[in-house]
Amino acid sequence: MRAQRLGIVSAIAQEQCGLLDALQHSRRVRHGNRDYTLGRLWGREVVLVLCGIGKVAAATTTTSLIVEFGCEALLFTGVAGGLGDGVVVGDVVIADSLLQHDLDTRPLYPQYEVPDTGKSRFATDATRTHALHSAALAVFGTGCPPRIDAATQQAFGLHAPRVHRGLIVSGDRFISTRAGSDALRKNLPDALAVEMEGAAVAQVCHDYGTPFALARTVSDRADDTAHIDFGRFIRSVASVYSLALVQALLSIRNEER
Ligand code: ADE
Repeated sequence: MRAQRLGIVSAIAQEQCGLLDALQHSRRVRHGNRDYTLGRLWGREVVLVLCGIGKVAAATTTTSLIVEFGCEALLFTGVAGGLGDGVVVGDVVIADSLLQHDLDTRPLYPQYEVPDTGKSRFATDATRTHALHSAALAVFGTGCPPRIDAATQQAFGLHAPRVHRGLIVSGDRFISTRAGSDALRKNLPDALAVEMEGAAVAQVCHDYGTPFALARTVSDRADDTAHIDFGRFIRSVASVYSLALVQALLSIRNEER
């Protein structure tokens, strides 16, 4: 059976640089103000793209991956702010479902509901999410941060990453105050993490019937210190985790074919 062409999306360059370096037989196509890089990663046909920050950028890029580039499954990797109890910097969160925390058309529809879908939570694909979770446990369940030098571990106070799975919420706002993250926790108590693209990707994938999975490394606690060392964390930790996770995922799935 032919493996499906996989679209791999991240918001910003440092989140994907490791994957881009590992890509073989690569060819770049410019479309709709984005660079799509086609090639092979661990034997799998993939298209890598940076969508930029925010839900609109994520939605247009996702549509292009599906419609223009023929991607039959999508994976998002990047960073998020931790919201849930015990979801701390350096942990990994796998989405079971995603919701837009800034979508509110009341009184026309209930808060968070995407009009005319009857849904506020969009589930990720169960099979691929299970595979992603297994890959994350294989990589991060070993007791120490993988492939991270001692100085970086110390700088960010990294411990053995815990892998969480559940609701991730998205909105066009970088949450960088304790009041902001407290409000999200109050309204959406089961949200594990917050970011700015995932729920938009999930909605487009739902519209096209395209299976989708998402993993985020926790870069901050969405509080007043959220911006400190953000760029350095993505460069030196999140990009390394993304690479390790995607490699493990594609290796497992290669064995399944
Ligand atoms: N992505 C990473 N950290 C974030 C935060 N605090 N708010 C929104 N998106 C994020």
